[in-house]
Parts: sequence; structure tokens; C-alpha cells
Amino acid sequence: MNARSLIRILLMLSMLLPVVVRAADGPVVLYPPDLMFSTEGKVKVFIFSPDKSAPLGATINFKAIEGIEGDHFKKGEISLNPGLNFVEAGGKRLRLYYLPGAKMDRFILQGKKSDEPYIFRAAKIHPALDDGCDGCHTFEDGKLSSKPQKESCYACHTDYSKVEEGKQVFLHTPVAGGECTSCHDPHFSMLPKLQKSEKGCRECHDAFPEDGVVHKPVGYGDCISCHSPHAGPGPKQLIKPGNTLCATCHENPHRQHRSADAKGKLTKVPPDFPVDNSAGKPEMSCTGCHAPHQSAERRLFVKPQGQLCKTCHQL
Ligand code: HEC
Ligand code: HEC
Ligand code: HEC
Ligand code: HEC
Ligand code: HEC
Ligand code: HEC
Ligand code: HEC
Ligand code: HEC
Repeated sequence: MNARSLIRILLMLSMLLPVVVRAADGPVVLYPPDLMFSTEGKVKVFIFSPDKSAPLGATINFKAIEGIEGDHFKKGEISLNPGLNFVEAGGKRLRLYYLPGAKMDRFILQGKKSDEPYIFRAAKIHPALDDGCDGCHTFEDGKLSSKPQKESCYACHTDYSKVEEGKQVFLHTPVAGGECTSCHDPHFSMLPKLQKSEKGCRECHDAFPEDGVVHKPVGYGDCISCHSPHAGPGPKQLIKPGNTLCATCHENPHRQHRSADAKGKLTKVPPDFPVDNSAGKPEMSCTGCHAPHQSAERRLFVKPQGQLCKTCHQL
């Protein structure tokens, strides 16, 4: 490596520090995001400019970006060089890393040894942006507003509250409220399905205790194997109602505790014990004896075994 390219690399690394001195009403680069990793040489650019006549001053690797179109909502395309690239607009510097044709979705760059490494991640853009910004935004009297999400999102996506006649639907509270962006980024995301947070459900719900017995799918954080994040045919957005949910993974568990009517003399099922009709015939509810998430008792029993059995069996 010659001295010149070494200096160039050192200069590039020092450039990695972010600059955020955005003028209050200056342009906002909506896409690409800072620290984006790309395997494609061409990347779309979306910029919001409150003052449509003000010069954008947007640059790619210190050269003006050509061919940006639009008034307040501007779009264009940039070509990247292999390696590090810098996009600047509105006083903000974005760092992009391009590896042509690479088969990975992130790239880690170690700056100075003492520093945290820079992690560049692939981002997925919401295809809605291709149709422009007007589907979701209005811009009036110098003010950018977002339309109600029940109106804008359901213009292109299935309305989760719609349901066939005679069927029921249970909506997740933030979905019922039209707060799609409490979980989704409307523009792009570095996580699957435009999700905003790596914490998923735990962003809003406490983790279940980890002592005793933890139901396997809960331990894996696979909440959506039982609950829809949006809406389901069972209460609590369960993807299947009653015992049919458990039957997805437990085919025909222990035969003795199915029928809701007791035959043995020493057995009496209390009238308030939950009964489930989802399989077409009355059955004792699985959740009458087993907790769905976690329990201090073996076999996920809802009560200590001694007490649980005595609910029905006079031992
Ligand atoms: C699919 C709907 C949708 C589309 C399409 C969309 N936006 Fe947005 N945008 C939103 C919503 C919703 C918010 C509010 C964010 C929130 O509630 O978290 C928002 C917020 C913003 C913000 C302020 C917050 C931020 O991220 O800095 C800007 C600026 C913005 N959008 C610009 C644009 C531009 C420019 C376009 C077109 C290239 C666009 N949006 C396209 C839905 C959309
Ligand atoms: C102009 C039409 C349009 C609007 C408006 C729109 N979307 Fe989309 N959305 C799409 C298209 C097209 C896709 C990609 C096709 C697909 O996966 O179904 C998509 C995909 C998605 C995905 C899945 C992304 C993935 O990686 O699979 C989510 C989540 C999403 N949209 C959420 C929203 C939310 C939230 C809103 C409202 C803020 C919204 N969309 C508004 C057109 C739209
Ligand atoms: C509580 C968080 C949460 C809320 C609120 C939410 N979503 Fe989602 N959404 C998710 C998750 C998680 C997935 C991914 C599901 C998967 O991987 O199967 C998803 C997936 C999607 C998809 C991809 C297709 C699909 O069904 O898997 C679309 C489209 C979508 N959401 C639209 C919306 C819209 C529109 C709203 C608002 C009415 C909304 N979401 C509200 C968490 C949420
Ligand atoms: C953005 C915040 C948020 C996220 C993320 C979120 N929820 Fe919720 N969820 C709520 C709110 C608010 C309620 C209603 C308050 C309540 O009843 O506790 C709720 C209620 C529920 C309920 C019904 C609770 C009851 O007692 O009736 C279930 C089940 C549920 N959420 C499951 C999930 C699952 C599974 C995920 C992940 C896919 C998730 N939630 C992610 C906000 C969220
Ligand atoms: C094996 C299926 C299954 C899995 C996996 C699962 N749940 Fe549940 N969940 C249920 C059932 C069944 C209920 C209803 C319990 C009842 O009504 O007695 C429920 C109820 C809930 C409730 C309502 C309050 C409560 O505790 O009863 C919340 C909140 C909830 N689940 C969140 C989650 C979250 C978050 C995850 C992931 C960590 C998750 N669930 C994973 C089956 C499941
Ligand atoms: C998505 C799949 C899935 C669903 C749905 C599911 N389970 Fe499970 N369950 C598992 C797995 C995996 C195990 C662990 C099996 C093993 O270790 O052999 C398990 C184990 C169990 C155990 C034994 C726990 C122990 O450690 O002794 C009970 C009891 C149980 N499940 C009850 C239920 C009930 C009740 C429901 C319905 C509310 C249900 N399951 C729904 C996947 C599921
Ligand atoms: C009346 C109480 C009761 C009901 C209702 C009940 N179980 Fe059980 N379950 C038990 C008992 C007792 C055991 C055996 C525990 C042991 O001693 O190992 C058990 C064990 C299990 C196991 C562990 C593996 C096995 O097959 O032994 C699974 C899985 C399970 N039950 C799932 C279910 C499902 C699914 C339902 C609903 C269809 C259900 N249970 C309904 C009491 C009940
Ligand atoms: C909700 C009521 C209820 C609870 C709680 C309950 N059982 Fe049962 N059990 C039944 C019914 C009903 C039968 C079906 C046989 C009958 O009609 O007597 C049965 C049958 C059985 C059988 C088979 C008997 C035979 O003759 O085939 C065994 C073993 C058993 N239960 C053990 C247990 C154990 C161990 C517990 C505690 C972990 C328990 N049961 C909790 C209601 C219950």
C-alpha cells in the first residue's frame, strides 16, 4: 500500500464520525439510512424538503447528486463506489458501505482499535415509497402531516378488522387504534417485515418468568406461533380458538383428560371448569390444567399437582 492510499484510508476512517447539524427546517434524507450496507451499486434516494425552492446541496462522495426530481418530496438515484461512501444533505452525513454482489446482510468495519466497530446493515425499503409520499402524507402551510393510518395503510393492505359474516375477530389493541407505526417503520427497516424493534413483543409486554417450566415456543420468543400480532379468531388474538391451538403442535395428548363428562364415581368436574367446544364436541380446556407460557409447577400445571388433581378426583 503506498502512502497516498494510506492517507486516503485514514481520511476515510476519520470521516466515519457522524455529523448532525441539521438546520431546523432543512431537508431530511428519508432513505438511504445512515450505516447502510448495500450489495447493489445503485441506491434510491428520498428527500423531504420543506422549502421546495431552497438548494438541496445534496452530495454523494462530495459531488452534487444529479437528477433529483420533485417539489417537497424529492426522489432520485445514486451510484456507489465499492467500499465506503458518504451522502450529505441537510447538514447530515450518512455512511454507506457497498460490496458488489456480496452474499451477506451486514458488514463490520473496525475503525481505530479502541473504537466500537461500525456495523453496516442491509435495509429493506417499503415498496409503498415507489408510489410517492402522498399516499401517507399531506404537506400544507409548510407543515408535513401523516394521514390516519387506518386510512393510508388499509388503502393497500387488508383491513384486519374486516371479518366474514358469522365469524369473530379479536384485534390487538394497537392495531384497533390504527397505530401500525408502534411496531412498523413506514419507510424502511433493517429488520424483517419493516419491524422497528429487535425486542418485538417485549417492547411493550413484560418477559415471562424464566424459573420453573417455560413452554418451549415461549422460551424461543416465538410468540407469533400462537398469537397474531394483528388479529385472530380467538380472544387475545390467538391464531386458532381454544384447544385447536394446542392441537397444532400436540396431536392427541393423553387421552384421559379430554371428555368434559366424568364417568368414574370418584371424579366430579366442577361446573365452573372451562369447557371448550372448538373441536366440535365438549372437551375440558387444556388451559384449565396447563399454563400456556410458564409455570412454577411441572408439566406447566396451573396449580401444584396435589391441589390440581383434587379439583376433580377424590383421592
Ligand atoms: C406507507 C406510508 C408512508 C409513506 C409512503 C411515506 N411516509 Fe413518511 N411517515 C409515515 C408515517 C406514518 C410517519 C410518522 C412516523 C411515526 O408515527 O412514527 C412518517 C414520518 C415522516 C417524516 C418525519 C419523521 C422522520 O422519519 O424523520 C418524514 C420527514 C417523512 N415521513 C417523509 C416522507 C417522504 C419524503 C416520503 C416519500 C418519499 C414518505 N415520508 C413516505 C408514513 C409514510
Ligand atoms: C401505496 C401502497 C401501500 C401503502 C399505502 C402501504 N403499503 Fe405496506 N406494502 C406495500 C407493498 C406493495 C408491499 C410489498 C408487497 C407485500 O409484501 O405484500 C408492502 C409491504 C409491507 C410490509 C411487509 C414488508 C416485508 O418485508 O414483507 C409491511 C409490514 C407493511 N407494508 C406495512 C405498511 C404500513 C404500516 C402502512 C401504513 C403506514 C403501509 N404498509 C402502507 C404497499 C403499501
Ligand atoms: C404489535 C406490533 C404490530 C402492530 C401494531 C402492527 N404490526 Fe404488522 N406485523 C407485526 C409483526 C411482528 C409482523 C411479522 C409477522 C410474521 O413474521 O409473520 C407483521 C407483519 C405485517 C405485514 C406483512 C404481512 C403479514 O401479515 O405478515 C403487514 C402488511 C403488516 N404487518 C401491516 C400492518 C398494518 C397495516 C398495521 C396497522 C393496522 C400493523 N401491521 C400493525 C407487528 C405489528
Ligand atoms: C407497541 C406496543 C405493543 C407491542 C410491541 C405488542 N403489544 Fe400486545 N398489547 C399492547 C397493548 C397496549 C395491549 C392492551 C393492553 C392490555 O390489555 O394489556 C396489548 C394487548 C395484548 C394481548 C391481550 C392482553 C389481554 O390481557 O387481553 C396479547 C395477547 C398481546 N398484546 C400479545 C402481543 C404479542 C404476541 C406481541 C408481539 C407480536 C405484542 N403483543 C406486541 C401493546 C403492544
Ligand atoms: C403455546 C401458545 C402460546 C405462546 C407461544 C404464547 N402465548 Fe400468550 N397466550 C396463550 C394463550 C392460550 C393465552 C390465553 C390464556 C387464557 O386466556 O387463559 C395467552 C395469553 C397471553 C396474554 C394475555 C395475558 C395473560 O398472560 O394471560 C399476553 C399478554 C400474552 N399471551 C403474550 C404472549 C407473549 C408476549 C408471548 C411470547 C413471549 C406469548 N404470549 C406466547 C398462548 C400462547
Ligand atoms: C407452536 C407449537 C406449540 C403449541 C401451539 C403448543 N405447544 Fe406445548 N409444547 C411445544 C413444544 C415444542 C414442547 C416441548 C416438547 C418436548 O420437550 O418434548 C411443548 C411442551 C408442552 C407441555 C409439557 C411441558 C413440560 O415441560 O413438561 C405441555 C403441558 C404443553 N406443551 C401444553 C400445551 C398447551 C396446553 C398448549 C395450548 C395452549 C400448547 N402446549 C401449545 C410446542 C407447542
Ligand atoms: C384435567 C387436567 C388436564 C387437562 C384438561 C389437560 N391436561 Fe395435559 N396433562 C395433564 C396431566 C395430569 C398430565 C400428565 C402429567 C404427568 O404426570 O406427567 C398432562 C400432560 C400433558 C403433556 C405432556 C406430555 C404428555 O402427553 O404426557 C402435554 C403436551 C399436555 N398434557 C397437553 C395437553 C393439551 C394439549 C390439552 C388439551 C387438549 C391438555 N393437556 C389437557 C392434565 C391435563
Ligand atoms: C378438571 C377435572 C380434573 C382434574 C383437575 C384432573 N382430572 Fe384426572 N380425570 C378427570 C376426568 C373427567 C377423567 C376421565 C375419567 C373419569 O371419567 O373418571 C380423568 C381421568 C384421569 C385418569 C385416568 C383414570 C382412568 O380410569 O382411566 C388419571 C390417571 C387421572 N385422571 C389423573 C389425574 C391427575 C394426576 C391429575 C392432577 C395432575 C388430574 N387427573 C387432574 C378430571 C380431572
